[in-house]
Amino acid sequence: MKKILVTGGLGFIGSHTVVELQNEGYDVVIIDDLSNASIDVIEGITEITGISPMFEKIDLKEKSSVEHFFQKHNDISGVIHFAASKAVGESVAKPLLYYENNLNTLIYVLKEVLNLKSSNFIFSSSCTVYGQADEMPITENAPVKPAESPYGNTKQIGEEIIKDTCKVNANLNAIALRYFNPIGAHSSAKIGELPIGVPQNLVPFITQTAAGLRECLSVFGNNYPTSDGTCIRDYIHVVDLAKAHVVALQRLLEAKNSSNFETFNVGTGVGSSVLEVIQSFEKVSGQSLNYKIAPRREGDVVKAYANTKKANAVLGWEAKSTLDDAMLSAWKWEQNIRNLK
Ligand code: UD1
Repeated sequence: MKKILVTGGLGFIGSHTVVELQNEGYDVVIIDDLSNASIDVIEGITEITGISPMFEKIDLKEKSSVEHFFQKHNDISGVIHFAASKAVGESVAKPLLYYENNLNTLIYVLKEVLNLKSSNFIFSSSCTVYGQADEMPITENAPVKPAESPYGNTKQIGEEIIKDTCKVNANLNAIALRYFNPIGAHSSAKIGELPIGVPQNLVPFITQTAAGLRECLSVFGNNYPTSDGTCIRDYIHVVDLAKAHVVALQRLLEAKNSSNFETFNVGTGVGSSVLEVIQSFEKVSGQSLNYKIAPRREGDVVKAYANTKKANAVLGWEAKSTLDDAMLSAWKWEQNIRNLK
């Protein structure tokens, strides 16, 4: 059994990836600092897979803790690095916190990965690196645009750091996965998204409104140049996204990569408007949602959806779930955590 380190493994995407890795027979060790995740997530993972993953509470900003961890676990075959702060608005208010959290930690982990026998590394990147792309759907060759926020900048610089390191370390093999909009939850409703405070993202705001925690969803702008005037995004089920990490890792473990730094879009290829997401929620939940049209939100791009051909052809992966599947799973999870069923 190959041992895989998952940093940020108790977070939303991390926890679903741990489940898929354990389902495929990998031995998983999780690092999380619990700054934006609950220790109870381990229980959910264990109930789903029947296996309790190893866990170490480590703050990756502490370089000596990172070094110590890797001394103990020098048999790791691959690292999937999720640990990062991800709130766009907060990153504008606290840029240094974001640069420190997202870049120092990446550097410390990467330094240790170079010393492993198998230096395989998967990085959580984002479609945010494309900004407002000129052409839809977005391919991996679309230019990287100046970042709209320090958060977005950390993803761009993160990719650059890895690329530069790969250039001079032939033994390092890395893949950056550029996620579109991850939503939904595991079908068991035992793990899912746990936003702290008022959700900034669309889908948790929808499910919390339906659950009675929020009064009304504000739809940010209905005068965009799209079919119904609301913004278009590519919403991908988190379990599909988790599986993309497993196949990307397998590609590195089997040395099938064509260069030692590769990027892949991870999306469905389908663009959905905010109103279509609301309609999907209403359909699968059987209830109507309280929403109103509000002014545009600063920094929103009009449209972003993926061309997924590279991931489909090269990784042999494709998103299986529809928007309705994902919305239903998000709703089941919300009902489960609010004891609504
Ligand atoms: C944002 C980040 C992205 C990050 C992703 C997941 C930006 C520019 N991008 O994507 O980098 O990876 O979150 O954390 O911030 N909406 C509403 N009402 C709401 C909330 C959202 O109408 O209450 C709309 C937004 O205007 C947008 C769509 O829903 O059109 C999706 O928004 P959101 O879920 O916040 O994701 P992004 O902004 O696409």
